[in-house]
Amino acid sequence: AQSDAKITIKPNVNNQVISRHIYGHFAEHLGRCIYDGFWVSEGSKVPNKGRIRLDIVEALKKIRIPNLRWPGGCFADEYHWRDGVGPRNLRPKMVNTNWGGVTEDNSFGTHEFMELCSMLNTEPYIAGNVGSGTVEEMAKWVEYFNFDGESPMANLRKQNGHAAPWKVSFWGVGNESWGCGGNMTAQFYSDQYKRYATYARNYPGAPLKKIASGSNGEDYNWTETCMKNIGTQMWGLTLHYYTLPSGSWRGSKGSATNFDEKEYFNTIRNTLKMDEIVSKHSAIMDKYDPRKRVALVVDEWGIWTDVEPGTNPGFLYQQNSMRDALIAGINLNIFNNHSDRVKMANLAQTVNVLQALVLTEKDKMILTPTYHVFDLYKVHHDAKYLPMELNTPDYVSGDSKIPAVNASASQDSTGTIHISLVNVDLSKTINLTTSLPGVNWKTVTGQIISSGKITDINTFTEPDKIHIRPFTGAKKMNNDLVVALPPQSVVILKVQ
Ligand code: AHR
Repeated sequence: AQSDAKITIKPNVNNQVISRHIYGHFAEHLGRCIYDGFWVSEGSKVPNKGRIRLDIVEALKKIRIPNLRWPGGCFADEYHWRDGVGPRNLRPKMVNTNWGGVTEDNSFGTHEFMELCSMLNTEPYIAGNVGSGTVEEMAKWVEYFNFDGESPMANLRKQNGHAAPWKVSFWGVGNESWGCGGNMTAQFYSDQYKRYATYARNYPGAPLKKIASGSNGEDYNWTETCMKNIGTQMWGLTLHYYTLPSGSWRGSKGSATNFDEKEYFNTIRNTLKMDEIVSKHSAIMDKYDPRKRVALVVDEWGIWTDVEPGTNPGFLYQQNSMRDALIAGINLNIFNNHSDRVKMANLAQTVNVLQALVLTEKDKMILTPTYHVFDLYKVHHDAKYLPMELNTPDYVSGDSKIPAVNASASQDSTGTIHISLVNVDLSKTINLTTSLPGVNWKTVTGQIISSGKITDINTFTEPDKIHIRPFTGAKKMNNDLVVALPPQSVVILKVQ
């Protein structure tokens, strides 16, 4: 079965750029993300440098992850940074009450995280503790990270082995302050934000980009209150929205690998809702900040399913199927298309948790379909945004329908245009005609992620079932780009 779609690529306006920080990631002290993920045990046979796992570092370097958020999530509002610095054998332990009630030994702390960021060549994004921490504690952490000179915290940092300040920039002031971060009202949080942010100082040469804890999905009142009360005293305001296959936090969320067509359809429909949610928050922000100085930071997104059977329910370990690849492609297209306001986003989470890029089992590591989407889309990093007009057929299931094609486009510094396309229809090839008025182009090449079944996954015994392959279904006809876009696929086209 086939169907027709049309795209018209428009010129870049106002030099709008797709920030590379939209392609950010998130590593929480949760399940096997840090411990038995990035961070291996003392004396482990898994190749590592100072206990940081090297195969993961290599994989993430390849996709050029621009930033990494840490230490949480919910964990951030229970984390006391002083417990995670200094000699490891003297660090106190704590209970990770949010995630499985396991004992956290604090062996991975500030210095270890900063070493990881340096190995990854990525920017740290620190989430400070507002829920159970004090203004003083956060202020001192900033001083510890960023002050270059003689001061109690700078001296302590030097004593702990790091002479130079790290000069971190992205600074979160709390996380989910409406929930696990303190169950606050929007008004109370926005007042608290101002107290904490006042003393999170900009030290010489190290200005902070302060990020306020924003809304839970469709809580527009939260955004309204923060914009009214905090306004441009913040660099960014967050938004968390997860794709739930069942659409509800109650009961089963749905399996990561075992779902039928109806559940697949609902999952994609719930993913596409991100566009509406981002648009509505952006419209509120526009009222208070028409110059778009405050970024919308979608620092938690991705699919959240039931955990893999037999694993700790508090560890949020789930498999990653071809459906996840489509979900990643759709969300990233949405963020690209809102890059006037969305300047940063973070997939939850990097390793072994939720919609992970990487799964590990002892010394083995697999790259998930989601990883491959980030690999494909890295061409959009800091590229000029190209708006488009898209006419797409619907993907119909029963008496419901959603748009079958989802897309975004950019132009890099060499003039090459990249178009990323997602076809969510499970059975129809879409015949897509793209016009690029005013663009003088000669060739098109492409790459694709697709698989026989939407439930297909990469496993430790078959790690490469889903990977990037060359795509030959695009050609030039007159000045149009004609594409046969296969069902359930993510495609990137390179137009030169
Ligand atoms: O990503 C898992 C959790 O989801 C985070 O800790 C929290 O912020 C959100 O509820």
